[in-house]
Amino acid sequence: AALSLTSKPVPTVFPLDALPKVDGADPASNVLDIFKLLITDQVVKFTGAAPAIVFPAVEAPKNSDLADFAIPTPRLRLKGNPAQITKDFVAQFVPNDFITGVVASGPFMNFSINKALLKTLVLSKIATTQEKYGINATGTGKKAIVEFSSPNIAKPFHAGHLRSTIIGNFVRNVLKANGWDTTAINYLGDWGKQYGLLAVGFEKFGSESELLRDPIRHLFDVYVQINRAAEEDATIHDTARTYFKAMEDGDAKALALWQRFRDLSIVKYKETYARLGIEFDLYSGESQVATKDMDEALELLKAKQLLQEDQGAQIVDLKKEKLGVVVVQKKDGTTLYLTRDIGAAKARKDQLGFDSMYYIVGSQQDLHFRQLFTILKKSGHDWADQCKHINFGMVLGMSTRKGTAVFLEDMLNQTQEQMLEVMKKNEAKYAQIPDPEAVADLVGISAIVIQDMSARRIKDYAFAWERMFSFEGDTGPYLQYAHARLCSIERKSGLTQIPPALDEIDFTLLKEPAVASLLCHAVSSTLDTLYVVNQEEPIKKARMLLYWSARVTLGNGLRLIGLRPLERM
Ligand code: ARG
Repeated sequence: AALSLTSKPVPTVFPLDALPKVDGADPASNVLDIFKLLITDQVVKFTGAAPAIVFPAVEAPKNSDLADFAIPTPRLRLKGNPAQITKDFVAQFVPNDFITGVVASGPFMNFSINKALLKTLVLSKIATTQEKYGINATGTGKKAIVEFSSPNIAKPFHAGHLRSTIIGNFVRNVLKANGWDTTAINYLGDWGKQYGLLAVGFEKFGSESELLRDPIRHLFDVYVQINRAAEEDATIHDTARTYFKAMEDGDAKALALWQRFRDLSIVKYKETYARLGIEFDLYSGESQVATKDMDEALELLKAKQLLQEDQGAQIVDLKKEKLGVVVVQKKDGTTLYLTRDIGAAKARKDQLGFDSMYYIVGSQQDLHFRQLFTILKKSGHDWADQCKHINFGMVLGMSTRKGTAVFLEDMLNQTQEQMLEVMKKNEAKYAQIPDPEAVADLVGISAIVIQDMSARRIKDYAFAWERMFSFEGDTGPYLQYAHARLCSIERKSGLTQIPPALDEIDFTLLKEPAVASLLCHAVSSTLDTLYVVNQEEPIKKARMLLYWSARVTLGNGLRLIGLRPLERM
């Protein structure tokens, strides 16, 4: 049925059953897909091309003045001259309420759509789905493990861990928004000979009260001191090795001390991640990989005749794969980083299960993950293909501002301080913020996260304090400010119901070009031209729905990135 645009009631529902079904199209959650499917429908009927070919060919045109959607006819893979086919199609095309026209431009079909209808459908969709706008159910029934952050106990939380934290949280959120069941794992670096050294160090330099007060910092200090001492006295390394061997052999006393370090560190980590709004489902780590799982993994490699002995150590030859020769067991029988990852992957598959597992780790470990996945595959685990390494480039100069940021907490504190300084520059506005410290913390974190998200993932980028704090350009403060401004409009609107009821909206009142540009993200410029306060009630309601929709959409986007949208700043 034709939808009326000029009068109520509003078309909040579209008969989705009437649309062709195509894999990857989701008209129930994505309004644009309704338009794309209606284009697909006519093109399929005329050309006989498969819907699965036509639908993905409907794209946003390079020049949006010429068309709303375009199909490059060669993408339809038809016999004959694309320009001629385009012309013939255009000649017989029948306009409808949604797709208002098509013109031929060489081998391109340039479609125009009913923008008023698009506006109505998008706003109605947002109003009915609210915080759920933008999510879909494509991942329903599937399970993903996302392993990220994974710092090392007693060592600095470096920029790579920060990036892993930001990207990992985002990957998890995106999967969730696509309907996946996710498990977020923090795989701590908490095992290895160096932790034998830490234990020895704690006996020499440790302080119980310092450990309880600030475990992460104290263990780091002890670690630095014992390393210095070991430079003078090499026997310390032997003691450390013996200690670690005792840990590997399950010696209760050695492990008890270790367990305390770990438990106390985790309490502190949780606090700091909470500032970022991040929670892990599981704190795992190298120490948690069961000996049994590693032994089984080695047995399997042996059975497949992949294990070789080399001077008492066990090795796997991956030269054919151009991945070198890797040691999986040292000659004293202790395990390695790689061996623990092999055991951990298998245990996760058995105990948690997954359809996909993502490791969010810097590109310095590309080789490690290639070796890991190759060994899993060669061991006969088909699911090795479900494991993916999401790598990323380095952050350069992150701690140069004061040169002291060693831990995530320092980093966040420094950012908060700097942000507060920036905010204080606008005295009048600063005076109105109820809790400037909390706001500075959230805006500062947004600055870091948006800077990171703006960089290309695999590229290195330089940390730029001034730029990321700026309220101009696509920065964290800019996005948060846009959100807060929209919230303030809601507060000042004088309307009692927000969003206003859809059946009270006259969509024809949303006619200015600024409305369309707002739907394309231009929040601040639209706010400067279309007011809500002091407008007549119908205009007020229509614009309030528009702004409310923009606010919800922006908020949903910010949450997806891992930020908490601010209501005031
Ligand atoms: N703790 C390691 C590091 O700081 C990262 C761990 C990555 N994850 C893994 N499964 N190997 O370099």
